[in-house]
Parts: sequence; C-alpha cells; structure tokens
Amino acid sequence: MNFNYAERMSSLKASEIREILKITQRPEVISFAGGLPAPELFPIEAIKEVNRIVLEEDGQGALQYTTTEGYNSLRKWCAQRMNKRLGTNFNFENILITHGSQQALDLTGKVFLNKGDIVLCESPTYLAAISAFKAYECNFIEVPTDDDGMIASELENIFKNTDRIKIIYTIPEFQNPTGRTWSIERRKAIAEMASKYNVIVIEDNPYGELRFEGETLPSIKSFDKSGHVLCSGTFSKIFCPGFRIGWIAGDKEIIQKYVLVKQGTDLQCNTIAQRVIAKYLELYNIDEHIEKIRKVYKERRDLALETMESEFPKEIQYTRPQGGLFMWIELPEKINVRNVLERCLERNVAFVPGGSFFPNGGHENTFRINFSNMPNDRIVEGIKNIAEVLREFV
Ligand SMILES: Cc1ncc(COP(=O)(O)O)c(C=O)c1O
Repeated sequence: MNFNYAERMSSLKASEIREILKITQRPEVISFAGGLPAPELFPIEAIKEVNRIVLEEDGQGALQYTTTEGYNSLRKWCAQRMNKRLGTNFNFENILITHGSQQALDLTGKVFLNKGDIVLCESPTYLAAISAFKAYECNFIEVPTDDDGMIASELENIFKNTDRIKIIYTIPEFQNPTGRTWSIERRKAIAEMASKYNVIVIEDNPYGELRFEGETLPSIKSFDKSGHVLCSGTFSKIFCPGFRIGWIAGDKEIIQKYVLVKQGTDLQCNTIAQRVIAKYLELYNIDEHIEKIRKVYKERRDLALETMESEFPKEIQYTRPQGGLFMWIELPEKINVRNVLERCLERNVAFVPGGSFFPNGGHENTFRINFSNMPNDRIVEGIKNIAEVLREFV
C-alpha cells in the first residue's frame, strides 16, 4: 500500500542486529551478537523483596503518575554517583530520569537537531545512536578515531571546515562497538573544543562502572567549564535492562528543555520501576553487586582473548578492552565479513558485522564480539569455531 509516511521514514531501516538477534533466539546458537548482560546475574530475589516493600510502604504512590523529571531520591543517587566516580558537580536538579539511556539519545535529537544539522561521532559508533539521531534527519561526520578516542587535530579541522555542527556524540569508556577507552588528554581537548565552537557533547557512558583493571578516569564533563557537556547513564548494565531506567545529566537550563520534550514523548518514566530501583539502592549494596558482574565479565573477556590469541590467524587484529562488554575485530581488507558470518551461522555462531556501526558505510572487513552473555565453555567453543572459519578466508 502506498501510505503517506513522513519524509524522515525514508532514511530509516530495520537494524541488522535485530535481524541477527532473531536467529540467536535458537538455543543451539552461540551468540556474540547482542549487547546483552548476563541474565543469571540479575538480582531477582532482591527485586522480589524490594517490590513487596515498595508496594506495602506506598503502593498507591508507586502506581500513580509522577513528575516528568523523575523520582527525587533516584535523581539524587545518580548525581552523587557521578560526582563520586566521574569528578562532576551535579545535584538532583541536573538529572532527568529517562527510559534507558537510549531515550536520552532520542530526546537529544528532539531538543537539538534540525533537518540537515551535523552530528559528529566516533568511527565506528553505537548503532542505535545512529538510528536515534537519523530520525531527526541529520547528517553524520565520522571523526577519525584511534585507541585513545577521537583524534583532536582531526576534530579541529572538521570544525574549521564545516557549518551546522550541533552535537558531538561520544562513548569514552569501553566503547560500543570497539571496547576502547579515551585518554585523559582527548577528554580534555574535546571539552575545550565544545566550548570554543559552541557545540553540545553527549558523553554516553553505560559501561564505565564495568572496569576490570586500571584506574577510573575523569569524565569529559569534569573538564567542561561552559555547560556544553551532557552525560547519560543507565541501570541497564549494572542492574538490569528490563526496567528501562537511565538518566541524562547536564546544565539545568538544558535539562528543562529535555523535560519539555519528554512530556510530549511519554509524560514520565515508569513510576514503580524508579521506586524499586531507589529502594534497592537504599537497602542493598550495589557496589557488591557490580563487583560480581565485573568478576564474571572479566573472566569471560580473558577466556575470549586467550582463545583468540591461540586460535586466530596472525593477520587478524583485535582490541583488548579493559572493561565493558565488547571487542572489535579487523580482518584483512579483502575479506567481506558477511561471508564469514554466513559460514559461522552454519556452525551456529553469531556476531554483528561492523559495517552497521559506521553511519556513512564501508568497513565491511570488521565485526563486533560481545563476551558478557555466554557461559565460559560456549565462549571457548564459539571463538574456536570463528577461528576455523577465519582460517578458510585468510
Ligand atoms: C553506547 C550505548 N548507549 C546507550 C545504550 C542504551 O542502553 P539503555 O537504553 O538500556 O540504557 C547502549 C546499549 O547497549 C549503548 O551501548
């Protein structure tokens, strides 16, 4: 049927990951595809208990509409956590609770982007950020990126030669998809440039708490003197994604604009989900819980890396992330990874081809591996299977 869709729909297509994830529903498939946390670590018993307490203490409030900004004690926790870990200086009025940090990205597009505006991003970057911003009919410039983050001199060149840059989107810690972490110098440089060129930086940080080794680094926001940097965070990777609770933090004036657009989007976040998380944070020790997650993921990363080191052909390059959920593989340029994926799927192993993470295409010789969601034995078996297929191609 020839339905009369909005023009913006012509640039949107189904995400490749969603298609691959359908295949990975089959229990025999070893999936390195989705960015899924390990479900066996969800604190189900604690959540049952907290749910009961929340409903007993104030069931009516927990099931009622609430403010768009979010539940104040949860906002306070988010501000304090960021101040403690990331060297920021937020209070609860700087925080808007969102439905996952994904919603913070969509609201960012709604607040800042006009058709034809430019978003700068890492190359590669998070696939669903591309989808969120694209819906606002922007164009992307991929900033050349190395192991330390966006290359500052390249960024400066782009600024000098380009009009209409509105947003710089960054994931400075254990990036999705590469697992890379930005150096302090690059963090500082981008904060300074944002101020100089009057551009908003989104510092998206869902994985920062999941550091396996090395020291926590100061955030981009900690170098921001002019209010141009906004930080997003989430409970998805340190608690559970099903609650869909995250946040965006920034200058109060900007956060008020986000509140305005969120009212039109969904009025507010799920009241009881916010209350349950806040009560969990009050009654349980989330640091102990995060420590458990770190331990399991570190073991999985180590196993994946050890197996890659012993089994992958020497021509193949990959990142060695210090935390998070992902690593990034680069094959010799002549190999198209979609052919590799086809052969791997025949062996019941899945991953996501890297091309989708580049908003302007190309890079079909790359792929992403998620190591958080499979038990140890399946990680080893899956990586060995990929290695056998790679040997056919190299
Ligand atoms: C970089 C990045 N940002 C945001 C999100 C969205 O997470 P959520 O909406 O669950 O907080 C993800 C999820 O994988 C991500 O990798």
